[in-house]
Amino acid sequence: MVNKICCIGAGYVGGPTMAVIAQKCPDIKVTVVDINEQRIAAWNDEDVTKIPVYEPGLDAVVAEARGRNLFFSTEVDKAIDEADMIFISVNTPTKTYGVGKGMAADLKYIELCARQIARVATSDKIVVEKSTLPVRTASALKDILDNTGNGVKFDILSNPEFLAEGTAVEDLHSPDRVLIGGDESTEEGAAALKALVDVYAHWVPRECILTTNVWSSELSKLTANAVLAQRVSSINSLSELCEVTEADVNEVARAIGMDSRIGSKFLKASVGFGGSCFQKDILNLVYIAKSYGLNEVADYWEQVIIMNDHQKGRFARNIISTLYNTVSGKKIAFLGWAFKKDTNDTRESAAIYVADILLSEQAKVSVYDPKVEEYQVYSDVDYLGTRSSEENTENLTVFNDPYEACKGAHAIAVLTEWDEFKSYDWQKIYDGMLKPAFVFDGRRLLDEKQLKSIGFQYQTIGR
Ligand code: UDX
Ligand code: ADP
Repeated sequence: MVNKICCIGAGYVGGPTMAVIAQKCPDIKVTVVDINEQRIAAWNDEDVTKIPVYEPGLDAVVAEARGRNLFFSTEVDKAIDEADMIFISVNTPTKTYGVGKGMAADLKYIELCARQIARVATSDKIVVEKSTLPVRTASALKDILDNTGNGVKFDILSNPEFLAEGTAVEDLHSPDRVLIGGDESTEEGAAALKALVDVYAHWVPRECILTTNVWSSELSKLTANAVLAQRVSSINSLSELCEVTEADVNEVARAIGMDSRIGSKFLKASVGFGGSCFQKDILNLVYIAKSYGLNEVADYWEQVIIMNDHQKGRFARNIISTLYNTVSGKKIAFLGWAFKKDTNDTRESAAIYVADILLSEQAKVSVYDPKVEEYQVYSDVDYLGTRSSEENTENLTVFNDPYEACKGAHAIAVLTEWDEFKSYDWQKIYDGMLKPAFVFDGRRLLDEKQLKSIGFQYQTIGR
């Protein structure tokens, strides 16, 4: 029976997941800890709309549980020692140095957590991997915990998160499945598995809680994302074919998606997928396959990334060629910077790469996103290191008002499918732009007929 849970990492995964566990399990005390003081302060902000992760419905869940059995704190050691069960939800970015640079997951934050748990724990703990990890990380975790610990026992479980950002609360409330990997062959392993199953069973039907061995669980997370991303790259590859054949990718997607063997989801052509998981997980899969000498397997999955890079690049190149082969000094307004709607997360967002290409062509890029903060936009572009931060600040401007962002622009590029973009006063936007006024819709979001009747030159993906 679990009474106290500690979660290390108060990010996009740890925050929402623990908020929902606390909401649904009032008998369990849940403490979310992070070394980032600002982030914890934001989670504790009296004004619940100021929590650092924007997710529809999350503020209400936090308001319900916070202070009752949900706590956010920077006292990592204390929370670790108190807990019976510890979730590790720290970030595992792609390595930016050394062996596996640009491909393998950087496990340094995970290892630091494991060492911290080993140092601090004075009673037996169940340690749950929540972050997406390469296969067999659990065995590395176990090694560290068992060899540097104070003689206390650790059971390791893998419990990958399948929530999608923007729908996290919904996904957590009614998941398609909850996956828990553990070692059922030992009595302690089976008990640990059962303890976590019991947590989820507070609200998830038992038949939706799947238990497997640890390696299957770890690999399922990577491959679920790889297969989803593959669908997006498949439809994006077809979007290019549609553009040259007078087919319409939405019609094709609808027609093939109605085949129940194919299914209709994740067939929306776009400017390219983003997010913290898809690219990272596929790169990881490719790296793992290569490290076992499975070169064909590695190449097969790598093509999903190559296609995605191509899609982002060709969207940018089409803007340049349509604007008479030069965007130098031209104002191009971006509607949307987040990697999808209903989130303030920008990791791997297509917008960053499209902006980078346009900035290299000396365009003046202006950005409006309903939820992304100004500093984030600059830090995303600076992170690529293509040019100096001063040059980025000079040529990239972030606006709080979409009409201001579009005023005087040669073209608008829609990078994120935020609903509010559809209901803007497009006549007013048109009136403020240079003519011909172009719209490049990277999400097939806007009403083509309406825009054309106003006078816009409208282009979208896959038609
Ligand atoms: C993904 C997985 O869906 C989730 O299960 C996992 O836990 C984490 O990774 P997330 O990255 O939050 O979730 O978003 P997702 O909805 O999968 O979208 C990823 C990207 O693909 C977005 O940029 C989105 O715009 C794009 N996409 C998605 C498309 O371009 N077309 C589609 O049809 C679907
Ligand atoms: P994810 O999308 O996987 O949740 P985030 O980057 O949003 O990733 O969140 C991960 C969080 O983990 C960050 O807020 C980071 O400060 C925190 N973190 C990383 N390492 C540690 C650690 N050793 N102790 C506590 N928190 C950590």
